[in-house]
Amino acid sequence: MNLDNFETVVVETDLLILGGGMAACGAAFEAAHWAKKHGLRVCLVDKASMERSGAVAMGLSAINLYLGVSKGNNTVDEYVNYVKNDLMGIARKDLVANIARHVDSSVHLFEKWGLPIWKDDEGNYVNEGRWQIMIHGESYKNIVSEAAKNALKELGENGSYYERIFIIEPVMIGDRCVGAMGFSVRENKFYVFKAKAVLDSMGGAVHVFRPRSVGEGLGRSWYPPFNSGASTYFTLKAGAEMTCQEVRFVPVRFKDSYGPVGAWFLLFKSKATNAKGEDYMETRAAELEKWAPYGASKPTPANLRNYLMLLELEAGNGPIYMRTDEAIQKLVAEIPDEKEARRKMKELESEAWEDFLDMTVSQALNWASHNIMPEESPSEISACEPYFISSHSGASGAWVSGPVDLAPGEHHWGYDNMTTTKGLFAAGDASGASSHKFSSGSFTEGRIAGKAAIAFCMDHPDAIKISDEQIAAMKEKALMPLKIFEEHSGYTNDVDVNPNYIKPKMFMFRLQKIMDEYAGGASVGFKTSDALLTKGLEYLQFMKEDAEKLAAGDLNELMRCWENVHRMWQAESHIRTVLFREETRWPGYYFRTDYPEMKEDWEAFANCRWDPETGEWEMIKRELL
Ligand code: ADX
Repeated sequence: MNLDNFETVVVETDLLILGGGMAACGAAFEAAHWAKKHGLRVCLVDKASMERSGAVAMGLSAINLYLGVSKGNNTVDEYVNYVKNDLMGIARKDLVANIARHVDSSVHLFEKWGLPIWKDDEGNYVNEGRWQIMIHGESYKNIVSEAAKNALKELGENGSYYERIFIIEPVMIGDRCVGAMGFSVRENKFYVFKAKAVLDSMGGAVHVFRPRSVGEGLGRSWYPPFNSGASTYFTLKAGAEMTCQEVRFVPVRFKDSYGPVGAWFLLFKSKATNAKGEDYMETRAAELEKWAPYGASKPTPANLRNYLMLLELEAGNGPIYMRTDEAIQKLVAEIPDEKEARRKMKELESEAWEDFLDMTVSQALNWASHNIMPEESPSEISACEPYFISSHSGASGAWVSGPVDLAPGEHHWGYDNMTTTKGLFAAGDASGASSHKFSSGSFTEGRIAGKAAIAFCMDHPDAIKISDEQIAAMKEKALMPLKIFEEHSGYTNDVDVNPNYIKPKMFMFRLQKIMDEYAGGASVGFKTSDALLTKGLEYLQFMKEDAEKLAAGDLNELMRCWENVHRMWQAESHIRTVLFREETRWPGYYFRTDYPEMKEDWEAFANCRWDPETGEWEMIKRELL
C-alpha cells in the first residue's frame, strides 16, 4: 500500500455525531430539528452502514423500555427504583428519570415510522414484562436509521452522514474537544472532522474478555462484535471522567448462540433449572439474603440471578436448562378447548422461533441443527463472557451532567449529557450510571444529548482552527500500523509472525488472555482479587508498549489495530476500577475473593479519569446523592 496516496479530507460541521446506532440516530433526528431552526450543521459518522450498525443491527423482538405512562401503566419513579435495585443501588437517578420521562414518545415515533408493534384485541401494545413490549423487529434498525438519515437530508447542505469511516480519537484544543480523526475502511482517505460540539455514541465493548467460543465460533458474541470500546477510548483520551468502569454485564443466554432469554422468562413464563430439574431461584433463595436489601427486590437483580446459576455450576449441577418445553405445555394446558389449544400451540411455536429470527438468527440455526423443538425439549443456557455496556444491565461510560431540574448538587454542571470535557457529549453505551436504557432509551438519550449539544454550538459560535501541522501529526499516528507493516513484512515468510511487529488478532488474543485469567473472566468463574488484578495491570503495561508496534497489511487490519487499542484502554480502566472498589457488589458479574461482601461505605460511584497532561490515572469516589 502506497501511503503517499492517502488523501486528507477535512470536514467542518457544528455538531459532530460519532456512531450510527440507536443513540446516534436519536441524536441526528433531534439535533436536525434544532439545527434547522438556527441554521447549524450536523454531521454523523458511522464506522459501518447505519442500516445495520450498532447493537440493534440484527433486529430485536422486544423494546425493553416502555413505560406506557399515558395509559397509567407505570410511573417514572417506579422505573428509577427498578433500575437502581437491579444495579445493586448504583445508578444516577437523575439520568435514568430523564430518559424514562421521554422514552414513550420515542417508541410512538418508531411506530409512526413503520415499526410493527404487537397489539392485543383491544389495540394495546402486548407487554413481554412490566417494562418490555413485543415487536416484529427484524427491520427495527433499518426503520430508525432511515428516519435519522431523512432528518439529516432535511437540512440540505447543512446535514451529512459518512459511513464506513472508523473514528480513532478526539481532536482537542486545550481542554476542549473540537472534533475527531479517523479513516475510511474502503478508500485511502484520512479524515479530520472539525466541530463545535462532539457527541460520542460509538457503543460499548465486546471481546475485551476472552469469549466462550475461541476458535470454533470465534467472533460470535451476544453484544455486536464490532462494538470495540471506541466510546470509552474517546472520552478517556479527551480527559473526561468515567464512571462504573468496573460494572461489566454478564448476560445469561441460550448456550453457544447467545439467544436472549427475556421472552422465555417474561412472556412464556419459563423456568431455568439445573440438570436435576431444580429451580435454583427457589432452592437457593436463602443466598439472596446475604445481598440485602437488593437481594429481596423484585425482580431479583440480574447479577444475582446469574450468581445463583453460577453456584449450581460450581456444585457440579450443570447443564443449566431453560425449560421451554414445560413452559409451552403449561400455557397450552390452561386452554380447555382442544381445537383452541392446538391453535395456541402453533402460535407459541411460531412466537418462539420468531423471537430468535428477529434478533439472533444463529440461535434459530442452532436449534435447527440440533433438532431442538422448543415445545418438546429444553435448551441449555449459560453465562456469557463479560461485556461493557450501559444500555442493558451494565453501567460503564462517561460521567455526564444531569438535567437541571432533576440532578442534585454536583451531578449538574452544564448542558445535559455533557461529559466533564468541554464540548464533548455522550449517550447510549457511551454514558454511564444510567443503565437499562436499551434500544428505545438509547435513542431517547441521543435525542436529549443532541438537543443539548446544539445549544452548546449556539453558545460557542467561533470557528474551530486546527493547524496543518496538527493534522499531519494525527495522520502519521493514524496510519503508523500500515507503515510498520510495509517496512518490516518482508523480513519473514509468514506475515503474521515477525519480530518487528504484532498483528491485531494476536494482540487481541493476548489482551483477552490477560483479562480472562486475571480480571475474572468466564474461564475462572468471574473471580478475581487484588493480587490477580495487580498482576494483570502489570501485563497490560507491557501490552501498551507493544501497541506501538501494531502492524496492518490493509485498511481492514488498520481498523482492527485501532479497535484493539480501544479495547486495551477499556480493559485498563476496568481493572483499575475493580481494584479501587474494595468489595463485591455484583456477584454474578464479578466476585472479589479478597473482599467477598458488599460494604456500606461503597454505596457510591467509583469513577476514574486519565489525565492527558500527565498520563496518570486518578480514581474518584463520588456520593450517590
Ligand atoms: S434482551 O434485550 O437481550 O432481549 P434479555 O433477554 O436479557 O434482554 O431480557 C429482556 C428484558 O427482560 C430485560 O429488560 C431484562 O432485564 C428482563 N429480564 C430478563 N430475564 C428476566 C427475569 N428472569 N426476571 C425479570 N426480568 C428479566
